[in-house]
Amino acid sequence: MPRFPPALICGALLLLSLRPACAHAETGAQAWLRYAPLNQEAARQYANLPAVVVLRRDSAVLRSAPAELIRGVRGMLGRTLREEKDLPGENAILLGTFSDLQPVAPGLASRGGIHDDGFLLATRKLHGLDCLIVASATERGVLYGVFALLGKMARNESLSALEETQQPTAPIRWVDQWDNLDGRIERGYAGPSIFFENGSVRADLTRAGEYARLLASIGINGCAINNVNANPRVLEDDFLPQLARVANAFRPWGVRLSIAVDVSSPQVIGGLDTFDPLDARVSEWWAKKFDDIYRLIPDFAGVVVKADSEGRLGPATYGRTPADAANVIARALKPHGGIVFYRAFVYNHQLDWQNPKNDRAKAAYDNFHPLDDKFDDNVIIQIKHGPIDFQVREPVSPLFSGLEKTNEAIELQVTQEYTGQQRHLCFLPPMWKEVLDFDLHAGDGPTPVKDIVSGKTFHRPTGGFVAVVNVGMDKNWLAHPLAMANLYGYGRLAWNPNLDSKQIAEEWTRLTFGNEPLVENTISRMLLESWPIYERYTGPLGAGTLTDILGSHYGPGVESSERNGWGQWHRADHQGVGMDRTAATGTGYVEQYRAPVAKMYESLKTTPDELLLFFHHVPYTYVLHSGKTVIQHIYDSHYDGAEEAANLVKQWQSLEGRVDEERYEETLKRLAYQAGHAIVWRDAVCNWFFRTSGIADQRGRVGHYPDRIEVEAMQLAGYVPFDVIPQETASGGKAIECAPSAQKCAATFRFDRAAGWYELDVEYFDQNNGQSKFRVLLGDQVVDEWVADDLLPATKPGGDASTRRRISGLALRPGDKIRIEGIPEGEERAALDYVEIHTLPQ
Ligand code: GCU
Repeated sequence: MPRFPPALICGALLLLSLRPACAHAETGAQAWLRYAPLNQEAARQYANLPAVVVLRRDSAVLRSAPAELIRGVRGMLGRTLREEKDLPGENAILLGTFSDLQPVAPGLASRGGIHDDGFLLATRKLHGLDCLIVASATERGVLYGVFALLGKMARNESLSALEETQQPTAPIRWVDQWDNLDGRIERGYAGPSIFFENGSVRADLTRAGEYARLLASIGINGCAINNVNANPRVLEDDFLPQLARVANAFRPWGVRLSIAVDVSSPQVIGGLDTFDPLDARVSEWWAKKFDDIYRLIPDFAGVVVKADSEGRLGPATYGRTPADAANVIARALKPHGGIVFYRAFVYNHQLDWQNPKNDRAKAAYDNFHPLDDKFDDNVIIQIKHGPIDFQVREPVSPLFSGLEKTNEAIELQVTQEYTGQQRHLCFLPPMWKEVLDFDLHAGDGPTPVKDIVSGKTFHRPTGGFVAVVNVGMDKNWLAHPLAMANLYGYGRLAWNPNLDSKQIAEEWTRLTFGNEPLVENTISRMLLESWPIYERYTGPLGAGTLTDILGSHYGPGVESSERNGWGQWHRADHQGVGMDRTAATGTGYVEQYRAPVAKMYESLKTTPDELLLFFHHVPYTYVLHSGKTVIQHIYDSHYDGAEEAANLVKQWQSLEGRVDEERYEETLKRLAYQAGHAIVWRDAVCNWFFRTSGIADQRGRVGHYPDRIEVEAMQLAGYVPFDVIPQETASGGKAIECAPSAQKCAATFRFDRAAGWYELDVEYFDQNNGQSKFRVLLGDQVVDEWVADDLLPATKPGGDASTRRRISGLALRPGDKIRIEGIPEGEERAALDYVEIHTLPQ
């Protein structure tokens, strides 16, 4: 068959009003399902692909399988497969459940003991014809098989003599969205909700359907669409038909709808005078509510519950337990086959910080371990992977090994709440792998977390994986073009936690950016390096992310976690740092682990460096296994991390021309921003610890910035200096902003170094409550101008807002006058922090 140029194919498809992948591929909207045209050589190996696809029985889910196959093959090979209902007299691709295929291809089911959503990809001779078979026990599994087949083609893998089975490790492979009904998303960083708008479900659910397709392609089978801080309105009678519309959009992709519910709903919207889970009227209310829901949504999956947590009401109101609350809802769901995900994120956020025995990390275990045999079988306890809250590094939650008679699911976070909010690159599968592979010593042999949550270790009927994703209306779903690697990686690990991060990174890169080796190697290397880099310039040694925990959870805020009830303490003082969680002298948290694990963390000698400050309080001069003191490690890691972040920019730049322009530019912009913000982090954390410990950096870097000129030392017109709080989030603790009356301000200085080529970094504050304008003049010549119009999570100058503007390639001469002008707008007063002038790298 002649190969048509992609443009021609796209044109022809557009005429047919089909939407080929190629027309929209490079906005990132298609994520890893681009089905980009294969090059001739790659396409050649699929020359014998049958021209016919056979689906013998139809259903909402099954229908998607041939449709997806046709779409993918058309995109990659420019051929449109014929669809038939029965075996034709020619080679074919057969799709179906084992029972559907039994008459034409008997005995498939016995192959490899495939069950549930597992699938078989195989070639068979049937009636003398060469057939490619995609089969599963479930309809959903057939669809998963088709996605796997297309993925192989997109990665140019051979399909000849195909004989492959895949079996998911756990039945629960879900995502949660924290979308509010008004369209905003809690901890969402990629635009408004794809489900809700102004208090209702969106009229147009196209994106919801596209999201379900992406989820299906990585084996996700459930999605809870609203915030765990649930609005009770979601259960009101007139809202249920709206939910049904979302379920309809999900259904073709085998993704079942779930919602988060508020346990006080029977009272708040049900008109009862109580929501006591042990009151018969409350259980009747839930039963009737689910009868109504299942009438509209027969495949409704169940609910997620957050209660007695962060101000949410819960069973504690009535002196009842989480088991009472979970079971009353579970019993109402049971006749319909629904599930309750009860979150173990139950803790007191008004802890007395002055009591050295108090410890938020203990809460989940303390609350749930005593209830181990009290939960019904259709309850799953949803446990965050660490005992605190998605910090850049935490130990594994001891609750995983604290429940033997209860179903469990691990909760991970794709949305990068504490890991850079998709403005910083932070590929999380390596972190998740460490968690999933961690042996909790909960049985005779190895009992890694992955085996406990999948139900294997304690022979539970169900269990698995949940991730908070928070995609939004941004075209590319998660804002940073490389952030979708986390969603992909999550799905792949929920399917098979034994995959390694490198394989996942490579797969994703090939599917998302193509198969060129330099592209694949560079991007997957960047991904794999990114979490350790982020950790190094934020919160090393297990102290937590060291971010502003009371606000945005984004920029540096070392002290924000101290002296308040939230319990994210790291207890840094003049002598030392770290939470003593030992049994001997600390909070006793380590005793929640089984003996071998407890023993390891109890001892300073055997606690790994990266978790030292999570488990122990040590002097700054304590020497790590690495041979460095704690304080020097803090300084070095922050400098290393910032340098490595700068290096990510260089790595990306090596791909110019090899990656489409749109994604290249967007990624470059974000990486350059990250490199600048990593310096803000570095300086804030290092200066805070320097000030607190009084111990100098052996390498003389902290507090000394030879290339830096503080703006408050410049000649100012209209600008006034002010103290930034907390002080470490601005250089020297000070910045300048336009006086309230000033319309236009300027800061001027003279260049006093040797003549040469330089780059000039202007550190300014970009808030979200105004759009100031900046201009930089060299003498009378404008050399740069920009608008501070980013939507960073900041309404005042500080670590969240601090942004670097790099002006490259300036020829400077001694005595040159450099002037920075700011025009304030709204509450943003064109604030500036400092300027740095570096010799231009050759
Ligand atoms: C974090 C997060 C909250 C969220 C909570 C939860 O604390 O910052 O926004 O509601 O986790 O998981 O329930």
